[in-house]
Amino acid sequence: MTTTTLPTPADLTITPRDRKFGRETPAQRLWHGGRVEATAIYNALSSTFPLGEAFFVESVRKFRDGAPPKLAEEIKGFTTQEAIHSREHDAFNRRATDAGYDLTKLEEQVARRLSITKSKPPIVSLAATMALEHFTAILAHQLLKNAGHLDGADPEAADLWRWHACEEIEHKGVAYDTWLHATRDWTRWKRWSVKARVMLYVTRNFVVDRTAGALELMRQDGVTELNAWARLLWYLWVRPGVFSKIGGAWLKFFLPGFHPWNEDDRDLLRRYEASAAALTAPAPLKKVRNAA
Ligand SMILES: [Fe+2]
Ligand SMILES: [Fe+2]
Repeated sequence: MTTTTLPTPADLTITPRDRKFGRETPAQRLWHGGRVEATAIYNALSSTFPLGEAFFVESVRKFRDGAPPKLAEEIKGFTTQEAIHSREHDAFNRRATDAGYDLTKLEEQVARRLSITKSKPPIVSLAATMALEHFTAILAHQLLKNAGHLDGADPEAADLWRWHACEEIEHKGVAYDTWLHATRDWTRWKRWSVKARVMLYVTRNFVVDRTAGALELMRQDGVTELNAWARLLWYLWVRPGVFSKIGGAWLKFFLPGFHPWNEDDRDLLRRYEASAAALTAPAPLKKVRNAA
């Protein structure tokens, strides 16, 4: 049996922040700075979250029995965070629908991909979750590190994406640690080969499906063919170029000894907390005034 050390920081706590976004204001179609391609790719991503995150929760839960107490606690935090993310992205997606988009094709594609994975042994679902959680963590890192990604976006929508990003960083080690625990009896080679193959598979699907989803939404805005491809590819790969910016972090997944917490990016969480605290400051002040 191989032994495993879990480099998740010992003092990390996973805190669900039960927040609600965009319930009071009317839905805006081109919420991302009036830009068709920016709105399309974020809406395409959001359309995957309610089903996708429910799948992550289900996949990790299947392996929680017998987990060490700290990991069991982290799984609880992770599943609560993901359930709240699903709820908020469901609300966000309803607003996109209210604004006139039809997300049906995108959601059907997610359901199709998930049913293929679910037809395989549960460890494959856990591996896919671990790989996709690395994806969301490095995207989240990018989003919080470079404010430019959300430049011009509707403030409440931007707030939703930053809140989600913060929690994705916070729980980025949970699926990975669950995988390490579930495969503790595997050889290093078997672990690496399964996780590498699954990562290549989910990456191909992620890039192809999100691109197709964004193109479909752009089509609904009347932007089609070469014009749509050029604008979307420029946005994703050049400026702000989120996909090319995460390339290096994506590659690290394949290194021997990789662990999501090999990079401790909790400075981004602290920065987020400082700004979020500033945003919510008026509420308690008002309470005090009312009480007085
Ligand atoms: Fe999430
Ligand atoms: Fe997550």
